[in-house]
Amino acid sequence: MRRRLILPMLLGLLLAACRVDEAPPPALTPTPADPATLGRETFAKWCVPCHGADGQGFVNALNAPALNAGGEAYTLSDQAILDAIIDGGAASGGAMAPLGNALTDEQEAAVLQYLHTLWTDEERAAHVHAE
Ligand code: HEC
Repeated sequence: MRRRLILPMLLGLLLAACRVDEAPPPALTPTPADPATLGRETFAKWCVPCHGADGQGFVNALNAPALNAGGEAYTLSDQAILDAIIDGGAASGGAMAPLGNALTDEQEAAVLQYLHTLWTDEERAAHVHAE
């Protein structure tokens, strides 16, 4: 009598263990909907270690340049900045890490827009014409 119960019970457990959960797994770090927030967070996580909390640059031995109003980043075109983010500095003999595989397209676009906010009005105006 006892044996007859064990087999169906085991089968039931097995089926329960194999049941596929149809709900998608919850995202570990939900992507903020607001691009400005995404840009700030991406900068804090991925750029601050080398470029500094305010983008002031020269915070460690890599001597990453300033990205804020104190630097020359505004003289670079958006494409040149994106290239630096995605490909890093290896091509030009630099030490910047290539982040193309680490960041989503949305994060790259958002962090680029965030850099614009670190500049003065004059720098932003000049940047529009940067090549
Ligand atoms: C591992 C350190 C490191 C990290 C992380 C890093 N950078 Fe850099 N970055 C550098 C260094 C060093 C340079 C200067 C030389 C070079 O190109 O490698 C640089 C240069 C740059 C330049 C200028 C490129 C040029 O041609 O003048 C830009 C723009 C830039 N970084 C943006 C960013 C942004 C935005 C992030 C975050 C998404 C970031 N960097 C993360 C180290 C880093």
